[in-house]
Amino acid sequence: MIERQLWHPVVLADEVAAAPVAVRLLGENLVLWRDEAAAVHAWADRCPHRGAQLSLGRVVACDGRAALECPYHGWRFEPDGRCIQVPALPDFVPPATHRAMAHAAVEAQGLVWVRLESVGQGDAALPAFEAESDAGMRKISCGPYDVETSAPRLVENFLDMAHFGFVHEGWLGAREMAVIDDYRVEATPDGLRATGCKAWQPQSTAHSTAPAQVEYGYEVTAPYAAMLTKVPEASSVGIDGYRESIALRICPVDAERSRVWFRFATSDFERDAASVRAFQDTIFLQDKPVLESQAPKRLPLDLRAELHTVADKASSLYRRHLKMRGITFGVC
Ligand code: FES
Ligand code: CO
Repeated sequence: MIERQLWHPVVLADEVAAAPVAVRLLGENLVLWRDEAAAVHAWADRCPHRGAQLSLGRVVACDGRAALECPYHGWRFEPDGRCIQVPALPDFVPPATHRAMAHAAVEAQGLVWVRLESVGQGDAALPAFEAESDAGMRKISCGPYDVETSAPRLVENFLDMAHFGFVHEGWLGAREMAVIDDYRVEATPDGLRATGCKAWQPQSTAHSTAPAQVEYGYEVTAPYAAMLTKVPEASSVGIDGYRESIALRICPVDAERSRVWFRFATSDFERDAASVRAFQDTIFLQDKPVLESQAPKRLPLDLRAELHTVADKASSLYRRHLKMRGITFGVC
């Protein structure tokens, strides 16, 4: 399964502190924990001894190093996964084969990312988000939001402007202003890019002070990841040169269950983070019931399964891209 070779976000980095944390990715239970150097580790959440959940255990100090202690018989595992102590047998030196199943984990963009499988040289990179390294933009994480649908349905919703006037009426659109002008869409090595997408919005961002014509640019940067940039008319936000980018971050928990975050980047350093989060919460909670009502929850890759118009050309290209990449999780 190619999805196992991709990096996926699993939790906000701040949420992994002294205690181990249980998460689920691509139908597998994982435990995350931090060692004495604050590095994050992601292992299968199953003790290799008798299968107990390691996330019920604790992080302990063992000869000056951090180790994860199993809740059942207290076996201790060092950061690379190897078992270093079996309390029932103080003189026993566990062989190298006594180890927890460790996966690759990194911290980036405010999240912990996990890759279940490595292919060596050709390993995929993290989904790009240029704003992350832009010192002129402040970053705020929003979420998590748990949604009963597949990751690809969420990506499509993020790319979709035609729902603004209905799902987000009075916020991102109005039903009498639902027209979608033609826009450009092109394939990229990692997915697709859509540009020149314009919408009239009563309140385009948390910073809006007036309705505005807003230009959107979208990019799918990995099978389950996307970002957008929004350029509202300066007068509508009261700030010259205002810029905003949002990265959609999805953990494909199960084929029909996802956990979502938004990484929000803004050139405005004044507004408080709580109001940005409250706005994002409002918008996403409007999307959620509609997303959860879609049937099937897995995204149909056969283009004949649902109807398409020219306004949907970004999502049609996305479906072709997933098919071409050989994606099987969360699609049908
Ligand atoms: Fe983990 Fe026995 S099940 S130590
Ligand atoms: Co929406």
